[in-house]
Amino acid sequence: MTFDDLKARLRLPVVAAPMFLVSGPDLVIAAGCAGILGAFPALNARSTDELREWLGRIEGALADFPYAVNLIVQGTGSPRYLDDLALIQAVKPPVVITSVGQPAEAVARVHAFGGLVFHDVTTVRHARKAIEAGVDGLILVTAGAGGHTGVANPFAFVSQLREFWNGPILLGGGISDGRGVLAARALGADLVYMGTRFAASRESLASDAYKQLLVSETMADVVTTERVSGLPANFLRGSIARAGLDPDALPERLGVFKPDLPEGLKPWRDIWSGGHGVGSIVDAPPVAEIVERLVAGYDAARAAAKAL
Ligand SMILES: Cc1cc2nc3c(=O)[nH]c(=O)nc-3n(C[C@H](O)[C@H](O)[C@H](O)COP(=O)(O)O)c2cc1C
Repeated sequence: MTFDDLKARLRLPVVAAPMFLVSGPDLVIAAGCAGILGAFPALNARSTDELREWLGRIEGALADFPYAVNLIVQGTGSPRYLDDLALIQAVKPPVVITSVGQPAEAVARVHAFGGLVFHDVTTVRHARKAIEAGVDGLILVTAGAGGHTGVANPFAFVSQLREFWNGPILLGGGISDGRGVLAARALGADLVYMGTRFAASRESLASDAYKQLLVSETMADVVTTERVSGLPANFLRGSIARAGLDPDALPERLGVFKPDLPEGLKPWRDIWSGGHGVGSIVDAPPVAEIVERLVAGYDAARAAAKAL
């Protein structure tokens, strides 16, 4: 599939971005049926066998609609990574999203079956490396994103990449409504990458308590820290307190990917992530309803932009 084919199959230029412990087959299927690109991390399936079952369900439900699988490429020597990649080669999902690490090996294998590879980047230097590795599209994870966040300003980042990259750009970080989707397109992005908004959806695997926090917290409650997962990431203040920790005095990390959390506490499972867009979330409706609102907001913003 080419990138143009992919875009032509979407009703709205939006990706429901992959979220650890949050996005599974139900969210991906609902996203695909609603006309956006659904994605999930391979690691959300507990084993390669479960991943096979999930991919079968998604393929069965979506038939012609595209979807994406996310692979964390750091630790590419691990048996799980190699088994997952072999399975992906057999199933041939239309899009593979790679994050954290060097994507060259995944690119070669996914291109061999005609799939597209999009890679997460947070800096111009990483973008250049990803382009050298042959990726089809760059996902710009900018300030205010849920999960492992970037710090770059989206205006500066997109403009500077567009100086040397004509290929697909996906923009993520705090975008949660149709107006934001149009603004990202005007800025030079092809697709919008939206996580936090879909964490608060009926099909998300997040617990009810997590969804309630996504509804009740605001941008002021988003704590940016490397002390929870070991890399800079955005977490919800209330979830840190709920886990028995002081959000303003978290223990210093021991190293990259090495947080120093009390025994038994796990990032993502016990301390929940959300980006700046959390302040716009007032409910957790079905994915289809979120997409309807995005389409309405996008169309209204387009009409309003004509008058500028
Ligand atoms: C709870 C949560 C878990 C995430 N897990 C992953 C992940 O496993 N892999 C990944 O590439 N990105 C992950 N992300 C980042 C998203 O894919 C995406 O970059 C981000 O959510 C976009 O910003 P937004 O949340 O402000 O919309 C996660 C984000 C959230 C909120």
